[in-house]
Amino acid sequence: MYKVKEAAQKLKNGSLVAFPTETVYGLGADATNQESVARIFEIKNRPKNHPLIVHLSSINQLPDWALEIPKYANELANALWPGPMTLILKRNLIAKDFVTGGQETIGIRIPNHVIALSLLEEFRKIGSGAIAAPSANKFGKVSPTTFEHVKSEIGKDLSQDDLILDGGSSLVGIESTIIDCTGPTPKVLRPGAITDKMIEDVTGMQLSKQASNIRVSGSFSSHYAPSAKVALDVEAQQGDGFIALAQFETPHGVTRLISPNTIEEFAQELYSAFHIADQMNLQRIVVIPPHGDDLALAIRDRLLKASNGE
Ligand code: TXA
Ligand code: MG
Repeated sequence: MYKVKEAAQKLKNGSLVAFPTETVYGLGADATNQESVARIFEIKNRPKNHPLIVHLSSINQLPDWALEIPKYANELANALWPGPMTLILKRNLIAKDFVTGGQETIGIRIPNHVIALSLLEEFRKIGSGAIAAPSANKFGKVSPTTFEHVKSEIGKDLSQDDLILDGGSSLVGIESTIIDCTGPTPKVLRPGAITDKMIEDVTGMQLSKQASNIRVSGSFSSHYAPSAKVALDVEAQQGDGFIALAQFETPHGVTRLISPNTIEEFAQELYSAFHIADQMNLQRIVVIPPHGDDLALAIRDRLLKASNGE
């Protein structure tokens, strides 16, 4: 609690705070402070036109940030927040170009993590209560799911006044589902732990499958990538790293990185496995992607991007 109060004060002073969420760790700044937000882009080497997600602690802050919120978006917010879901909505005046990347929309999320939520609540008492935060990794690299990942990825780029909060391992392990709520029906821009079926159940609507011209950085062809080459569904060779569900035997001569028993564990452990492979200087990671819909589909999405379509 003491640390969280200190962290909220740092945000108010314009410093950065990296913090745990249930999906991945974020690198946070006061979403209304242009200079602080600019430092996030510098540290990440992120192109300026890539919008950031704004994190809030309560649905009653939503009208400050978004306009013309459709009924189905309110239903999603009420049913699934706090949770691993980001809603893209028409922006209100407080959502400036330096957060939205110049777009007329804003991405909002209420994370389901006790440290993230108490940080947001403390920050609301003394400041804007809105934290702009991308995943706390360099642009295009693997999202951190532990304190140690954040430290090794961006620790040296932070200043003395910045802070990293430690919340152990992220439970979900892959980034939030992003849902475009600017059309007549919801549209998934990035799959995640909130599945198509959950969205359809909550809203009673069919998801829009129409192509969208909204930018999502995860939709670049190479993303979420470790330094090691990621190869999907190929025969593993001596010296490779290997990632597969526990039911698959470890091929001879490879380094087994993880053996998840379930799809949930697969998501939870995937980015740690990438980090371990890089620490070991492995050249290649062979992955047997999980089959199925829902979370398995979100994992395959990340694996495809990590493998750059190879
Ligand atoms: O789980 C998550 O979403 C994590 C945690 C920290 O909340 N955050 C995260 O942020 O993954 P980031 O910046 O690494 O990815 C957010 C994605 C980007 O691809 C960005 O383009 C998209 O969200 N995004 C944000 N605002 C948007 C907007 N207004 N319109 C379209 N896409 C947006
Ligand atoms: Mg990211």
